Amino acid sequence: MKNEILITGGAGYIGSHAVKRLLKENYVVHVLDNFTTGRRQALENLKKYGDVRIIEADLRDGEALKKALRADNMANVSTALHFAGVLSVSESMQNPYKYFQNNVLGSINLLETLREAGVKNIIFSSTCATYGNSQYLPIDEKHPQQPTNPYGESKLMVEKAIRWYAELFGVHFVIFRYFNVFGSDPDCDIGYSSLPATHLVQSAVRGALGLSPFKVTCADNFKTRDGTPVRDYIDVIDLVDAHFKAVKYLESGGDSDIFNLGTGKGFTVYEIVDQVEKTVGNKFDRIPGEVRLGEYAEVYANYDKAREKLGWNPSTSLETGINNLVRWFRKYPDGLKN
Ligand SMILES: NC(=O)c1ccc[n+]([C@@H]2O[C@H](COP(=O)([O-])OP(=O)(O)OC[C@H]3O[C@@H](n4cnc5c(N)ncnc54)[C@H](O)[C@@H]3O)[C@@H](O)[C@H]2O)c1
Repeated sequence: MKNEILITGGAGYIGSHAVKRLLKENYVVHVLDNFTTGRRQALENLKKYGDVRIIEADLRDGEALKKALRADNMANVSTALHFAGVLSVSESMQNPYKYFQNNVLGSINLLETLREAGVKNIIFSSTCATYGNSQYLPIDEKHPQQPTNPYGESKLMVEKAIRWYAELFGVHFVIFRYFNVFGSDPDCDIGYSSLPATHLVQSAVRGALGLSPFKVTCADNFKTRDGTPVRDYIDVIDLVDAHFKAVKYLESGGDSDIFNLGTGKGFTVYEIVDQVEKTVGNKFDRIPGEVRLGEYAEVYANYDKAREKLGWNPSTSLETGINNLVRWFRKYPDGLKN
C-alpha cells in the first residue's frame, strides 16, 4: 500500500513543487487549497506523476475543514505539510487582519482538525521574517525572534501554537524557517504563477524578458557591500528536498525541531539584478529608492542544523535557479490557469 500525505497550499508555488517531489517518491498526495493564489492547472500538470486528490477548502472555515479532513479520509495520512498562507510583507503592513486571519486562525483550525483526525506529524512553512533585524550573522535558529511586520508575527504565533500542540497532544513537528525562495521546476511542469510577481528574482526575470514592468528602485543607503539589502536566496528544488527529508525524519520517529532553510550566502539586490542581466542579456537602470516600511539590511542563514540532523545540503546555484525561471516564464508567461 502506498503512503499518503496531506499538503496544504499544494496548488501554490512552493507547495506544488513539494507535491511533485512526493508523487515521485510514490506518495498518494491529498492537496488542500482554497485556490486564491494556487492554480488548478499545477495539479493537472502533475497528475502524470501519480495520485493527487484535491480537497477544495478554506483554512479559515473551521467547520468546513473538519468536514474536509475526517478520520476516515485521513486514516492513512501520518504527516501534513502546511504551506497554505499569505506572504507579502508589504501587504501585511497595510492589511494585518488578512495575515492574522489566514495564517494564524487558518493554522490553528488546521492543528485542531489534524488532532481530531489523528494526523500526528506536521511540517510548517515559517520564515526568516520571524527573526526581524539581524543581531548577528549568519542567523541560526537561536537568534531572537522580533518580527518587524505582521507577516513575520503571524508566522511566529503559529510556531508557538504548534509547540503547544506538541506539548499537550504529542504532535511531532518540523518547523522550517525559509529564507528567500526562488527558482522553478527544471521540467517546467510547474513554476511561479503569482502575478504580479512580488519576489525580487522572479520580478527581475520577468522584467528582463519584457513580460512585466520592473524597475530597480531599491534603497541603496543600507550598511551593505553596495548599499542595497542582502538576502539569502534558496532554490525551491533544494527547499522541497528538505521537506522530503523531514517527512522521512518524522516518520522514523525524529524529535520535533526547528530548522533554517537557506544557503548561508547573501546576495545584494544589485548582485541579483547583475546575474539576471547576465543570464537574459539586457540592462536595467538603477534608481535609488526609499527604504520600505519594515525593511531590514542584511539576512543570511546558518543552516548547520538542517545539514547535521536532516542530512540536507542546498546545491542549486543562483545561476541555475535563474535559468530555470527564465525557461519557465518563457513557457508560461501568464502563469498557470486557475
Ligand atoms: N515564497 C517565499 O519566498 C517564502 C518565504 C518564506 C516562507 N514562505 C511560506 O511558504 C508558504 C508557501 O508560499 P508560496 O510562495 O508557495 O505562496 P503561494 O501563494 O504560491 O501558495 C500559498 C497557497 O496557499 C493557498 N492558501 C492561501 N490561503 C489559504 C487558506 N486560507 N485556505 C486554503 N488555502 C490557502 C493558496 O491558494 C496557495 O495555493 C507560505 O506559508 C509562505 O508564508 C514562502
